[in-house]
Amino acid sequence: MLDVEKIRQDFQMLNFGIIYLDNAATSLTPEPVIRKMLEFYHEYRANVERGVHRLSQRASEEYEEARAKVGDFINAESENEIIMTRNATEAINLVANGLGWKKGDKIVTSLIEHHSNFIVWIRLKKRYGVDVEILRPNKQGLFNINDFEKAIDDKTRLVAITHVSNVLGVITPVEKIAKIAHEHDAHLLVDGAQSVPHFKVDVRKIGCDYLAFSGHKMLGPTGVGVLYARNELLDAMEPLSIGGGTISDVGLNYYKLAEGPIKFEAGTPPIAEAIGLGAAIDYLKGVQLDNIETHERELVKKMYRGLVNVPSVKVYGPEKPEERTGIISFNVGDLNPHDVALALDVSADVMVRSGHHCCLPLMKELLKRREGTVRASLYLYNTEEEVEKLVSTVDEIARSLA
Ligand SMILES: Cc1ncc(COP(=O)(O)O)c(C=O)c1O
Repeated sequence: MLDVEKIRQDFQMLNFGIIYLDNAATSLTPEPVIRKMLEFYHEYRANVERGVHRLSQRASEEYEEARAKVGDFINAESENEIIMTRNATEAINLVANGLGWKKGDKIVTSLIEHHSNFIVWIRLKKRYGVDVEILRPNKQGLFNINDFEKAIDDKTRLVAITHVSNVLGVITPVEKIAKIAHEHDAHLLVDGAQSVPHFKVDVRKIGCDYLAFSGHKMLGPTGVGVLYARNELLDAMEPLSIGGGTISDVGLNYYKLAEGPIKFEAGTPPIAEAIGLGAAIDYLKGVQLDNIETHERELVKKMYRGLVNVPSVKVYGPEKPEERTGIISFNVGDLNPHDVALALDVSADVMVRSGHHCCLPLMKELLKRREGTVRASLYLYNTEEEVEKLVSTVDEIARSLA
């Protein structure tokens, strides 16, 4: 069980009377994470992997320790499989731009992807004539696994799919998809931006080849993300940028890239941010992901039940709680979602996201709402009272329409 009241004391922003339900966009940061980053700035700020002086040694150790914590958190085989990026978007772009593509290669993706895991593939189609097949789930966002069986063939090189939809909260059966992909020697990239922060993600259990996620959605700072790539795949992938830190030798007419993750981390990396991400992982482990998952599941049930019972509110995504995480998208009649979000902020201090949530194909093709939805998303520090406040305020807004 989570001690939510105790946890809330670690988040100073929660003292300002706000109800923060925009966790799918970015989470809040607890004091221990901020303190860990301050420690870097106060005590040992220096560049990493270069200097021999003690500050640089300490910074390098802390940076590498953070990498090891990330690896352990997702059960990677080794920390060498962890590449620090700026965010999930950069991690996905690294795969898209790092592999050599040719006409006739096939990529399978889906209609519920965030633009960061969608337009990168469309660009490859334009650039190289890669064939991109886009799978459609049903109205609730649930996929028929047979559609993956049919779409993934021997020409398929990559399946790129989200683990959890940032609009519908629906969970994708990535383990089954990994099996199908591997039967055809294709690789699986999982967009874990909305899963890694909320429940245990085990890359070896899933059997994925790549996993992308962002530190700022999991209590860490902005500016750092992760690409997990299976060891055997690192050599074949080209870095997005090259320069300082990425080489093992340079001559007048040649350069030799380093091996392992540093090949992909050109220039000074986000040092404080990576160290902060390590501290965020310590924090999540301390409270235990299983507890976070249970807590969010209880709250989301309440939120779902509350919202579906409000007249003129349309709730999207799966009906069964076990098929979704703590993200709920909805609309109030024909009201523009931005107006609803603004009313929630102004009248009840409730922060929610509104709009297309970087998922225009989903909005246009599946929900048929170009202007998007209102989205409330939970995390470990949210409470039942906050969910009740959301529901009662949405109810007031809906009544004002009648
Ligand atoms: C499912 C999903 N993928 C990718 C991203 C991109 O994350 P970032 O903006 O941190 O790169 C997001 C962000 O909302 C997301 O929800």
